[in-house]
Amino acid sequence: MPSLSNNLPSVCAIVLILSLSVEAQLSIDHYYSSCPQALHIVHDVVVEALRNDSRMAASLLRLHFHDCFVNGCDGSVLLDDNTKFAGEKRAYPNDNSLRGFNVIDIIKARLEKACPNIVSCADILAIAARDAVFHTGGPTWEVELGRRDALTASRDAANIHMPSSLSNITVLTANFAAVGLSFEDLIALSGAHTLGYARCKSFRPRIYGDVNINPSFGETLRKKCPRVGNDSVLEKLDFRTQSRFDNLYYKNLLTKQGLLHSDQELYNSNKADPIVRKYSRDVSLFFRSFSRAMIKMGAISPPNAAPSEIRRHCRSPNIQP
Ligand code: HEM
Ligand SMILES: *[C@@H]1O[C@H](CO)[C@@H](O)[C@H](O)[C@H]1NC(C)=O
Ligand SMILES: *[C@@H]1O[C@H](CO)[C@@H](O)[C@H](O)[C@H]1NC(C)=O
Ligand SMILES: *[C@@H]1O[C@H](CO)[C@@H](O)[C@H](O)[C@H]1NC(C)=O
Repeated sequence: MPSLSNNLPSVCAIVLILSLSVEAQLSIDHYYSSCPQALHIVHDVVVEALRNDSRMAASLLRLHFHDCFVNGCDGSVLLDDNTKFAGEKRAYPNDNSLRGFNVIDIIKARLEKACPNIVSCADILAIAARDAVFHTGGPTWEVELGRRDALTASRDAANIHMPSSLSNITVLTANFAAVGLSFEDLIALSGAHTLGYARCKSFRPRIYGDVNINPSFGETLRKKCPRVGNDSVLEKLDFRTQSRFDNLYYKNLLTKQGLLHSDQELYNSNKADPIVRKYSRDVSLFFRSFSRAMIKMGAISPPNAAPSEIRRHCRSPNIQP
């Protein structure tokens, strides 16, 4: 019979997992009486932003993902550097890459006018992501609200926790598991790459290194992104419909036309293959899985007892350090 002391490490592990997976107390009617216009205000600015710049849908969706993967969905990704900390914006995956901060500022300013001190920046990101998906032809869902904003951010944490496009499926799965998301969630959420662009720098290792790439697709990309050249040249993540939220991302994987190494890892003779095939055949199944996974991702909570507030400006804590 195993002694208690032998079991201690596993008992501790279980306790740790439980405390990490406690979900924030979110609800769909959080602002129902405190700021009934909140959802409309966010929606209207998102629509205006998409009219100005169709890529903004992709950029807003990605902001919510990057927020949630680093210490939970707490608006930390929006904080500028200050004298007390180096924020996430200049972390490797984010620097010269994340965009949409001005749109969030416009939304926040309108919300502060309508209902001061009520709506968190983290919630703005969740609502904007949902609306961006819907307005590019994707699904919609009831967005859970009531997140609070962090007082601090960490560049190191962003460098550690954001998944890398160089990673294989094992590592990507572990990155998602670390925030309580499943293998299926990984496959479904990666479908976000039906929208937007990546820089040459992000897909160069794939077009000069991978063998599981469609030859003419690779050839075309190598012309646009030479071994030595402009790192910032953009390419569509879904080469067919970069502004349409659909399931062509998965069809591209079937023909080895995923742009990032991490994309093609989802269809590379492993246990993700059948799921990719299902999503490529059945768009409404993909939409349902994506919506469910977005709600799960949006519920990743900050560490227990992390101090929080409703920020008045999304770029800085209310009390300047
Ligand atoms: C599975 C792990 C993931 C990796 C390794 C990854 C990596 C990347 C990379 C390298 C880029 C291009 C950045 C650049 O070159 O500037 C990108 C763009 C993007 N990612 Fe991901 N990503 C992942 C998952 C996700 C998820 C879960 C979402 C949202 C739910 C998402 C949404 C996006 C969007 C929409 C863009 C385009 C943004 C734009 O055009 O502004 N990604 N991602
Ligand atoms: C849309 O573009 C106009 C004109 O440049 C600008 O004034 C406005 O702030 C933009 N709106 C959003 C939401 O980005
Ligand atoms: C995935 O990548 C990790 C880290 O580079 C490596 O240790 C592991 O062996 C790789 N797994 C597979 C199946 O290639
Ligand atoms: C590199 O490409 C980006 C995106 O197309 C462009 O904005 C930038 O001006 C280019 N830089 C140089 C040095 O050509």
